[in-house]
Amino acid sequence: MKNILIKNIKGLVGVVIDPNGPKRGKSLNELSIIEDAFLAIEDGRISFFGPMSDLMGISDWTNLEIIDADGKYVMPAFCDSHSHLVFARTREDEFVDRIKGLTYEEIGQKGGGILNSARRLAEMSEDELEIAALKRLALVKSFGTGAIEIKSGYGLSVEAELKMLRVIKRLKEKSDLTIKATFLGAHAFPLAYKERKDDYIDLIINEMIPPIVAEGLADYIDVFCERNYFTPEQLDRILTAGVAAGLKPKIHVNQFSILGGVGIGVKHGAVSVDHLEELDDTDLSFLKSSDTIATALPSCSFFLNIPYAPARKMLDNEVVLALASDFNPGSTPSGNMQFVNSLACIKMRLTPAEAFNASTLNGAYAMNLGEELGSISIGKKANIIITKEMPSFDYLAYSFGENVVERTILFK
Ligand code: NIG
Ligand code: FE
Repeated sequence: MKNILIKNIKGLVGVVIDPNGPKRGKSLNELSIIEDAFLAIEDGRISFFGPMSDLMGISDWTNLEIIDADGKYVMPAFCDSHSHLVFARTREDEFVDRIKGLTYEEIGQKGGGILNSARRLAEMSEDELEIAALKRLALVKSFGTGAIEIKSGYGLSVEAELKMLRVIKRLKEKSDLTIKATFLGAHAFPLAYKERKDDYIDLIINEMIPPIVAEGLADYIDVFCERNYFTPEQLDRILTAGVAAGLKPKIHVNQFSILGGVGIGVKHGAVSVDHLEELDDTDLSFLKSSDTIATALPSCSFFLNIPYAPARKMLDNEVVLALASDFNPGSTPSGNMQFVNSLACIKMRLTPAEAFNASTLNGAYAMNLGEELGSISIGKKANIIITKEMPSFDYLAYSFGENVVERTILFK
């Protein structure tokens, strides 16, 4: 494996000397930047870094690539802990329907939305889905993402859910991004089960979870707990079965309404509870005292024109906050984590440092990858971004819409 020395770095961002967990509450604003720095990578891992004045002569030049990063920043690649990046086709027709006045929920009620994606996915082969997903992975990598969680949930039958998860397994093998897989059979009720919802829950528990676990196809289990989707009771049943089968929960809650899903997720030891555009004090109190990570998805709020998760309030209450893209064809047709950082600053009033930590280190922990990724720390995998020349670190979130990433370097 090639070794790399990056020298003359304007700012080495996200240095954590002694990594010991995600950054909770107010500590999210602690972002360490070494100016005029170098970074050494050996066998795909961060082996050494510091100010240029500490850089010794190089004794072994074999297999060494030297990169001059004069005027540029080096930082950990984004860890996007919530996406639906495997899907059949985009849904810009629904986008136009929303402009004309329909809401996202109304489109879903009419059989559009998730069911629309499921119909299209049923017609596609694993090969076709893989090709489309690899293109999207290349795109998000070009915006600086190095690790990503991908959900099923556009299958909604035993066969199609397995197909989606097998595609994600192939992506894990073929892509240079680090990928985690989540089973989201409980994303919507298929039309055939509209009048017999318990039968669909039985199908998930008895026919989907066992083969998924037997084939090692998922790391996590997810449920979309929301009015017109899955109730807190159904969430509880599905998580009970999933956890018993060895899957950790990462769930969709409080996107449009507060139903009690947050407490159920925390009770089952959820790694993260995601969305939280709606949050009351009871739900906040569950998050305050727990290790469950609150994941906000500001690009979804932007695209659907709905409230943003109250991130400042969460940080004031010492919650662990992560930011992710939610990349999917219905509510967030973008996997650009730089834009997520800009929105988090502009709409949620996070500082650029808070937004960056939430989408790197805390995002890594929201995929149980915090020991391996998400900061510049000795021994961690050297998944990094080299930016274009930038005037300051804050420029990344400030210059919304611009791609400041010049190169994303990833190792498996
Ligand atoms: O996280 N809210 C549920 N699931 C996705 C959207 C899925 C879709 O519309 O295709 C989300 O926003
Ligand atoms: Fe989602």
